[in-house]
Amino acid sequence: MNRKEEIKEAYRNLGNAHNVYDGMMTGSTFIGRLIDKAVWQMDREDILEYQSRPFEVIPAGFKGKLLEVPVGTGVISMPVFRTLPEADITCLDYSARMMESARKRAETLQIANVAFVQGDVGKLPFEDNSFDAVVSLNGFHAFPDKDAAYEETFRVLKKGGTFSGCFYVEGANAHTDRMIRTFYVRSGFFTPPFETMEFLQNRLQTMYESVEVSNVQSIACFKCRK
Ligand SMILES: C[S@@+](CC[C@H](N)C(=O)[O-])C[C@H]1O[C@@H](n2cnc3c(N)ncnc32)[C@H](O)[C@@H]1O
Repeated sequence: MNRKEEIKEAYRNLGNAHNVYDGMMTGSTFIGRLIDKAVWQMDREDILEYQSRPFEVIPAGFKGKLLEVPVGTGVISMPVFRTLPEADITCLDYSARMMESARKRAETLQIANVAFVQGDVGKLPFEDNSFDAVVSLNGFHAFPDKDAAYEETFRVLKKGGTFSGCFYVEGANAHTDRMIRTFYVRSGFFTPPFETMEFLQNRLQTMYESVEVSNVQSIACFKCRK
């Protein structure tokens, strides 16, 4: 099994999620799948595809320091972290409540090598050049100060380290764009201005040595090396 298949398998083994958010993020509940189709026009394979791409830069047996921001409930990252027992992992989020779910999930999955830190991505409480990898899943469409988030994730990453992740971009699917503006922005889950694929590619190219940007419907996936 290659790394990509290994990551997808970890999600499949997660079982049924316990709440609407987790069900939507994993496409593993009826309501979750309904939202994924109605808003994102994605099926479970699409979900697995966009969630596994950011982890492709983290090799099997990774032993370095990894920062995940924002961790949320850890529903996407914890199954993968379970496959990295030798990594030194730090998870950060603004919301203590979301992070409490992530902490419980880590406990359930018996993951001992993860530390949890409450904080703001725009002011990360870490030294310059301190991580070998920074992963950000579904965060940049929520962060209010996106420039600060890009600067801070870059600052804490070592030279040669990887920055990878995924988030919603505008302009890739007109139906999803309408749904996001109507429901997600009003509810405060997503914070404009949103990026387009082209804007994201250009921004990352001005910062990183190598950049790969792709998408699954309205979700952009990026893999960069500093
Ligand atoms: C859509 S969730 C994504 C969480 C997780 N990565 C996932 O994919 O399930 C967005 C998260 O961003 C966090 N967040 C929003 N603004 C933040 C900030 N300025 N600093 C750190 N976390 C923030 C929220 O608390 C929330 O948990």
